[in-house]
Amino acid sequence: MGNRARRSGSKDKLLFTPGPLTTSMTVKQAMLRDLGSRDSEFIDLVKDIRSRLLEIGGVRDQGYEAIIMQGSGTFTLEAVVSSSVPSDGKMLVIINGAYGRRIAQIAEIHNIRTTTLEFPENQVPDLAQIEKALETDTAITNVAVIHCETTTGLMNPVKEIGRMVQQSGARYFVDAMSSFGAVPIDLAEWGIDYLVSSANKCIEGVPGFGFALARREALMQTEGNARSLSLDLLSQWKGLEQNGQFRFTPPTHALLAFHQALLELEAEGGVAGRAARYRANYETLIAGMRALGFQEYLEPEDRGYIITSFRYPTHPNFDFDEFYKRLNDRGYVIYPGKVSQADCFRIGTIGRIFESDMNDLLAALREVVAEMGIEA
Ligand SMILES: Cc1ncc(COP(=O)(O)O)c(C=O)c1O
Repeated sequence: MGNRARRSGSKDKLLFTPGPLTTSMTVKQAMLRDLGSRDSEFIDLVKDIRSRLLEIGGVRDQGYEAIIMQGSGTFTLEAVVSSSVPSDGKMLVIINGAYGRRIAQIAEIHNIRTTTLEFPENQVPDLAQIEKALETDTAITNVAVIHCETTTGLMNPVKEIGRMVQQSGARYFVDAMSSFGAVPIDLAEWGIDYLVSSANKCIEGVPGFGFALARREALMQTEGNARSLSLDLLSQWKGLEQNGQFRFTPPTHALLAFHQALLELEAEGGVAGRAARYRANYETLIAGMRALGFQEYLEPEDRGYIITSFRYPTHPNFDFDEFYKRLNDRGYVIYPGKVSQADCFRIGTIGRIFESDMNDLLAALREVVAEMGIEA
């Protein structure tokens, strides 16, 4: 644990996962306070967080609102889906992984008329099919897609899809859970009406809430759409605007940590700075894994630098649970696969981890590969 303890000031295992992630000691320390939810200091903190989120999205003073929602990221996804689609609306969900399927599932649970376009998990969606669906099905009022499909690490062409959605006149919803803060996204230019992410992803806070960036004009048209009390996006926004407070108990400690995480993101050079570190982590990982004989699941041009899926080695000695445990015992936490058609495991390159941590992980992997006798 020598290196890790020195760098992060913590003896915790390093998390190479899609979240919760390894966070800085200063982010953890920011939580060591009890702050009242009606205290003016807390209200100012929430205001600053909302304004910084708009800044990261490049939409401060561009007609967007930032709305924080208690719960994990899925709660905010559900808030957007259940609040944005009108009762006579229809949602098109573009699917190439588990998170796309989850959006469709949310819509169906709320009895929202839903249509899906499903593509293989290792391929970007066929834009011509999306264009055709939007042209032929004029009942579609809302379109949803995942930015980084964390199932595999694939980056969907959110900008190109946005152009088509804009042309169709439908509202555009992007789940940018695992990309926002580390991958540049131009909400206004790409025609995004709603974007969702959460505290414990690329901004490197702790779990406890998600947030939506919503185009004000779209949000204002959603009066009466909400299908849930606690996940009512417009009411949540109204509460935050009226007196700066949450309607129901806010995750005060997680918000304190998040504010510190936002300061650290700014100090790192914002989205560009964070992207550079994550990309370096990713490149180090890929080079090291290839040297060990592992193969990536996706084609390089379809991948982002957030999380990478690797195929299981074909060697008969390979057993994922054993492989995972041996790495875990050394202080390195990787992630199981989520791909439905292939046996894979995943390694994340986000969170408070650096190239040196990637090299430490690779050294541990080298030892485990030798111990288990699974050299390719
Ligand atoms: C793209 C995407 N959507 C949704 C989620 C779900 O977020 P949560 O587990 O915070 O509810 C995740 C989590 O990794 C994700 O990566």
